[in-house]
Amino acid sequence: MLSYLHGFHAGNFADMHKHAALWLVLSHLRKKKKPFCVIDTHAGSGWYDLGSEQAAKTGEWKDGYALAKAGANPPEMLQQYLDHVAGFDPMTRGRDYGVREDDEYRGPFYPGSPFIVREMLREDDQLVLMELHPREFETLHHRVKRDDRIHLHKRDGYEGLVGMMPPAIRRGLVLMDPSYDVKQDYQKAAIAIRHAWGKWPTGTFMLWYPILEDGFDVDLRRSFGAIRSAGGVLCAELASRDGGAKGRMRGTGLLVINPPWQFDQQLDEIGNWLAKTCKLPGPAKHSVHWLVAAE
Ligand SMILES: C[S@@+](CC[C@H](N)C(=O)[O-])C[C@H]1O[C@@H](n2cnc3c(N)ncnc32)[C@H](O)[C@@H]1O
Repeated sequence: MLSYLHGFHAGNFADMHKHAALWLVLSHLRKKKKPFCVIDTHAGSGWYDLGSEQAAKTGEWKDGYALAKAGANPPEMLQQYLDHVAGFDPMTRGRDYGVREDDEYRGPFYPGSPFIVREMLREDDQLVLMELHPREFETLHHRVKRDDRIHLHKRDGYEGLVGMMPPAIRRGLVLMDPSYDVKQDYQKAAIAIRHAWGKWPTGTFMLWYPILEDGFDVDLRRSFGAIRSAGGVLCAELASRDGGAKGRMRGTGLLVINPPWQFDQQLDEIGNWLAKTCKLPGPAKHSVHWLVAAE
């Protein structure tokens, strides 16, 4: 059953960390003229109205994006990303960004992964999106259907990813950002990425996971530690030691296979800044370590 809706969580501290990391990888891919592809296996609805009732209900973006935007002296790459978010206004793009005349929008707006990538695509780059939730899919379809570089599938992201490996464009990134509303997601994510990497060993793979009290992240890190990729496997976490309430996310993690050159240092600088700027359930720390060293 699909119950998760990202609109309740968009712009929270986990999005800040994950989307800044996404921005870093995209900036790196854009350095070469050769086209790149991005496969986003769990796409969500594309962009979010932070003035909506959903966003107000949890207020999570106030502890994430709002604090980051107001924070002093962010690292340069994070500043670029925050500027991009601040300038993101679907209302000025109208039908092109799937704005519906009969919907009520309040703003400000927050781009999810599909629109962060879309803004970074060049003419020959490609974006593949998968989304299973019927309403999220329908909204996303309406928002991206006018762009020929984007291919959207209403398809299971785990099975779909393996089925489309290796991609026709051999430079690029897989972003896997499951909702983890069922615990099987941890195992499915690890298995799908392992298979996909086996067919595309030079691709960059980035998996997001929440840090909760249940400890499922421990197995996830262990299985990624067994992926002996030549470009290495990196683990980055922004978390507070204080667990807070049961079931509440106390941290956010990323596992990255074949990260770009100097990504570890850049993300650590960003993560350290986010740790002192965003609000987590308790005092927060950022850590980066290699599960498998790059050759
Ligand atoms: C965390 S949200 C994605 C947020 C998005 N990646 C972003 O950064 O803006 C996870 C999404 O995955 C979708 N989903 C859940 N299970 C899925 C599956 N097996 N395949 C594809 N999408 C799935 C959910 O409906 C939800 O929209």
